[in-house]
Amino acid sequence: MAATALIETCDLGRAYGGKWAVRHLGLQVARGEIYGFLGQNGAGKTTTIRMLAALLRPSEGSLRIDGIDPRVAPRALKQRVGLVPDTPPLHDYLTGRQYVGLVASLWHVGRRERDARAERLFALLQLEEAADELCKGYSHGMRKKVHLAAVLATAPPVLLLDEATTGLDPIGVRRLKDLLLEESARGTTILFSTHVLETAEQICHRVGILVRGTLRAEGTVADLRAAHGGASLEDVFLATATGAAAGGGDGPARD
Ligand SMILES: Nc1ncnc2c1ncn2[C@@H]1O[C@H](COP(=O)(O)OP(=O)(O)O)[C@@H](O)[C@H]1O
Ligand SMILES: [Mg+2]
Repeated sequence: MAATALIETCDLGRAYGGKWAVRHLGLQVARGEIYGFLGQNGAGKTTTIRMLAALLRPSEGSLRIDGIDPRVAPRALKQRVGLVPDTPPLHDYLTGRQYVGLVASLWHVGRRERDARAERLFALLQLEEAADELCKGYSHGMRKKVHLAAVLATAPPVLLLDEATTGLDPIGVRRLKDLLLEESARGTTILFSTHVLETAEQICHRVGILVRGTLRAEGTVADLRAAHGGASLEDVFLATATGAAAGGGDGPARD
């Protein structure tokens, strides 16, 4: 296992009203690693990401980001995490450029550096034209890209992306993948959830398959495929998800 795990969870769990949404989760993501979090709707991906971002309190177990326990230092943890949620909250009456500037200044990024990073990200994400329009009118994909630009402008050591590619067009997906690979090469630790297995296969160093709140398979895509006799990642995913459904287990009942 990795020498330096920037994201670590131990027996992490969260219940809503007595039903477990996530249970016995042990994750370790190394510095610079891209970890793909796969799972069907309701598997517990968003719940996990919100706990990692210190937005949701675990019901059991513990977690650390860069060695920081959110129960001890939630603010310090949040300063290290850049979160792109499934539905990014932008400020409707700011332009995209103003929003990115605001977020970067809250993170104390100097004006010059902020402007340089923002311009580059706007160009890469094809936001130059939209950057001076109010966020109010943005599509889901544009909201996601503007929020991503704001998060990357703060250069966080840990990036968490929930349903990273939803709403993005093919060029947007490609640029996102390039940006994540570039961030990873700089040492940024990335965990992202996705439904798009192809994206996971292309850029993740490892993936984990979450089934009804429990991690049922984990490894490199090549290892998972080999363990299933060379099947495609899609087949591995389907076998893992449906196999667990048929076999039962201690996860919460779902759907
Ligand atoms: N605020 C909530 N209150 C009650 N149940 C919730 C809440 N959020 C999520 N859940 C339940 O927790 C489980 C996991 O949900 P979620 O983490 O959103 O999964 P995913 O992101 O993988 O689709 C689901 O059964 C969902 O219905
Ligand atoms: Mg979700």
